[in-house]
This record gives sequence, structure tokens and C-alpha cells, in this order.
Amino acid sequence: MDYLRQLELNDGWKIFHSEISTSTNSELLAYGKEGGLEGSVLMTDHQSMGKGRLGRTWSDEPGSSLLMSILLRPKVAFDAYFFISMILGISLVETLVTYGINANLKWPNDLLVGEKKLAGILAEVEVGKENILVIGVGVNLNQSSSDLAELNRPATSVAAETGHTLNLDDRLELAKAIVEKFKEKYDQLQSSRSRSELVSAYRKYSATIGRFVRVDFVDGESLTGNALDITERGELMVEIESCIRMVDSADVHHLYTMQ
Ligand code: BTN
Repeated sequence: MDYLRQLELNDGWKIFHSEISTSTNSELLAYGKEGGLEGSVLMTDHQSMGKGRLGRTWSDEPGSSLLMSILLRPKVAFDAYFFISMILGISLVETLVTYGINANLKWPNDLLVGEKKLAGILAEVEVGKENILVIGVGVNLNQSSSDLAELNRPATSVAAETGHTLNLDDRLELAKAIVEKFKEKYDQLQSSRSRSELVSAYRKYSATIGRFVRVDFVDGESLTGNALDITERGELMVEIESCIRMVDSADVHHLYTMQ
């Protein structure tokens, strides 16, 4: 893995910074397969082949965004990996509030300010003798309102919300704050079997509970209904024509708020 700078955190966790990457998720997955350590974090100024959820691309202008991924070798069961993405979402919300931004989470893990997307999370797993989980985040930082208006979905950035742009040192500081918060919660997740505290925190920040939503499933099925809750397994509980459906993987669109 090529990098220019590195920042040491606790317990051997390290943030590596590079000017360019194909995709920090792809690079860390490859690094993990070569034996890269848990807690290796790659942050870059620009991705040439950034990946979004559900096979989409994630594009950026150099220096415009926080683009980083964390390499993990989780000890929790595979069906608990969703909680690791949840932890990253919660860590982002709790860090960004110290930057004056009140963000919420659209299920499963988009960060919104109001109805506008500020950040997205992509988790990828390499299954093997010891599974590798790479969890990446892209946060819009320095895009101006006119840059954001060109996108095909409502989006915002830290600069659009606060009026402040972030240079490389600021981005490293933000990355460090997020990763430290994430690590604390990740360590707790690995040492405790209870998920209820985590789900409570997630519910508190949920922008989806209480909304009338359209759920687009990967197989092309699309349904609308009331988003009632997040289950203890992290699924979205949706009431569709008086039936309750637990959704574990889909793209969700907020339509309106239930009365
Ligand atoms: C989404 O579709 O909302 C998820 C976007 C995730 C983008 C980040 S940027 C850093 C990491 N590397 C990637 O290629 N994707 C993730």
C-alpha cells in the first residue's frame, strides 16, 4: 500500500494517508489479504475508482471529501457485521456534531442533514479462514452549494453547512476523531453480547423511523410503507398494507413524515 504520511493511534491502529487511491476499500481489502493488520486505516485525497453501495460509483474532486476505510478482522459473528457499520454511522454523527453539524442516519447508513446526503458508508467482506471486513466512508467536505446542485440527488457538505473548508491537516484531524470514536465502540461491541445500547443510540439518530418510505430491493421489487422501527438485529421494520416486513438489505427513500 502506497502512502505519504502515517498517524499512530492506540493499540497499533494507524491512519495512512495517500494522495490518490483507486478505492480505499479495494486497496485495504487487498492489503488485508496480504496480512495487513486490523486497525489499518487508509485515507486519501482522491479516488479514481471510488465505489458506492449497490454497485454504484462514488466520484470526488481531489481534496473535496473525507475518503477513508478501516481494515477489521472482527471476532463477532457474521450476522453482527451490520452493527459495525452502525457504529461507524453513530461515530460520524457524534463527531460531526462537534463541528456544528446535526446529522441523522437514513437506514441503513447514509448521513443526512435534513433531507440532504452528507456521507455514505460501504462495508465489504472477504470471507476466509479469518474474515476481513473493510468499512469505508465518504464525507462531503469542501463542495460548494453550486457543486452540490450539479448532483442528481439532494446533497450537502461540511462547507455548505458551516462555511468552513477543511485542508489536509483538518481532514486528518477529522479522520482521527472519527476513528478513535469508532474504535472505542468497536472494542465494546467485541467484548459484550448486548446490542441494545447500540441499537438505542442508532434509533436516537435515525431519520428513517416515523417516515413513509419506498423500499427498493436489489431484485428490482419496490414497496412503500411506514418505517416503524429498527430491530435488535438492525433490520428496518416496515408496515406495508397492514403486514410487517423486516428489511435487511435495500435502498430506502424517505417520502414523507407520518402524522
Ligand atoms: C454510498 O453509496 O453511500 C457509500 C459510499 C462510500 C464511499 C466510500 S469513499 C471511501 C471508501 N472507498 C470506496 O471506494 N468507497 C468508500
